[in-house]
Amino acid sequence: MAVLIAGAWPYANGDLHLGHLSSLIPGDCLARYFRQKGEKVLYVSGSDCNGTPITIRARQEGVSPKVIADRYHDSFQRCFDQLGFTFDCYTRTDTLLHHEVVQKIFKTLYDRGFIYHKQTKQMYCSHCAQFLPDRYVEGLCPHCGAHARGDQCDACSTILDPVDLLEPTCKLCGHTPELRQVEHLYFALSQFQPQLEQLYVRAKKNNDWRENALNLTRRYLDEGLQDRAVTRDLPIGVSVPIKGFEDKKVYVWIEAVSGYYSASVRWAREHHKDISEFWRKDTVFYYIQGKDNVPFHTIIWPAILLGTGINALPTHLVANEYVTLEHKKLSTSRNWAVWAPDILKRYDPDSIRYFLIINAPETHDADFSWKAFIESHNGELLGAYGNFVNRTLKFIEKLPEFKLDNAQVDAEILQETQALYGRVGQLIESAHLKAALSELFSWIRRLNKYFDEQKPWQRIQDAPFNAYATLNTCLFSIANLAQMLAPFLPFSSRKLGKALHLRTLKWEIIHCPEKRPEPLDPLFARIDPAQIQVERERLEQQIR
Ligand code: MF3
Ligand code: ZN
Repeated sequence: MAVLIAGAWPYANGDLHLGHLSSLIPGDCLARYFRQKGEKVLYVSGSDCNGTPITIRARQEGVSPKVIADRYHDSFQRCFDQLGFTFDCYTRTDTLLHHEVVQKIFKTLYDRGFIYHKQTKQMYCSHCAQFLPDRYVEGLCPHCGAHARGDQCDACSTILDPVDLLEPTCKLCGHTPELRQVEHLYFALSQFQPQLEQLYVRAKKNNDWRENALNLTRRYLDEGLQDRAVTRDLPIGVSVPIKGFEDKKVYVWIEAVSGYYSASVRWAREHHKDISEFWRKDTVFYYIQGKDNVPFHTIIWPAILLGTGINALPTHLVANEYVTLEHKKLSTSRNWAVWAPDILKRYDPDSIRYFLIINAPETHDADFSWKAFIESHNGELLGAYGNFVNRTLKFIEKLPEFKLDNAQVDAEILQETQALYGRVGQLIESAHLKAALSELFSWIRRLNKYFDEQKPWQRIQDAPFNAYATLNTCLFSIANLAQMLAPFLPFSSRKLGKALHLRTLKWEIIHCPEKRPEPLDPLFARIDPAQIQVERERLEQQIR
């Protein structure tokens, strides 16, 4: 089975924050899990370097867009690395290859008649003497009345055309823009309505998309899909490969989503592989994103695939809701955010991963607070998991006569471990990562209770064989936990794997090599609860 995991491409116009990490982390867990199972995995993503947000930032700083894109692309790579993300290819949209691939896709759609010429009206600001890109127009959303950008309303998630906005203003100067006659190229989205309905029905039947993605997509389909302009007057981006339109750029959404394909092409070239190994009908696809990206993955990208004849429609869609910070909405402009480079400087990546998954906004918004974060680290990671590992290994360390013997593993625990692989695996495959991780932590609590009940510290006096059996059962459990937790907590799993002499981590029941474990420092260090206050104050102070 081939599995393609596609992480949404963050805009390279500012650092990553917890919101990004929370929506993207399921991708790495899935990639790691399927690799452990021995499946053929391709995990791709990259930095979105062409969107208007980058131009806006560059203008604010008085530098070229390239300076901005380079800065944040590098920073993204560092953060993903530190967090242990295992992309097979993490690239960017300003590479020559990406431009070529997008142009080829665009040209194919044009040649097949899915992109056509149309006279239309566009917002022009006479004060700034230019046509305005989508995000340069702001106004009121015609659907919900909230303040919205020209491309999308964040309040109700509707995809907009700037001419739809009520009371439009130019973002650059604040004047009211006017409508001018122009020719653009349009993508015939409406023609794909029947096939996209089918895709929706299949996803609903198979439970492959979360509720939020189903609902939003249903809404678009019910409204009836509209053809969309796919040429834009922008300073950066992929030039339109059609005569007479060379000055215009490909609409960023067609272009950015095509990155999944171009990143696969890059990976294939670098590894002398063929992308048809992955871009095929029977591949399992996981698209990982925040919920504002849903229509681009359930409508636009499938339509592009259908139009170009790439027979590989999305299967699973993993769209998280939003993360709030200390119960308030994140705001990058007010600097009400926990930035990835910053938290990674001070905290263990496994602690961050644990919290973001166990507290994921899978079905509703979830809150990040420093109190909850530090308490979950101290209470669960260290208090339950770290403690179980530590008490077992320390006990054994002080017991030179102990011999590792898998025949002594408790039959019931062995059986339950076996069942756990199946259950947790199912949960991961259906992208219920939070439930998967919490199953594993309930199991850890059970194991701690087992240790308490067996009292090996007493049995070692009166019935040493009994104590050895308990310790063997615990070691066996630790080895299997190291494996099952590896998709979530790869750093601590790797340490454990080494200490227990496991050569590779797999997704099947494992017995430790019969060799004494290496001494191991505690997996997690306690965080002083006084840090909660320190972090809160730091956050308050950074507000603009
Ligand atoms: N950069 C865009 C965003 O952050 C798009 C990301 S996903 C894409 O919303 F693959 F579609 F590009
Ligand atoms: Zn203006």
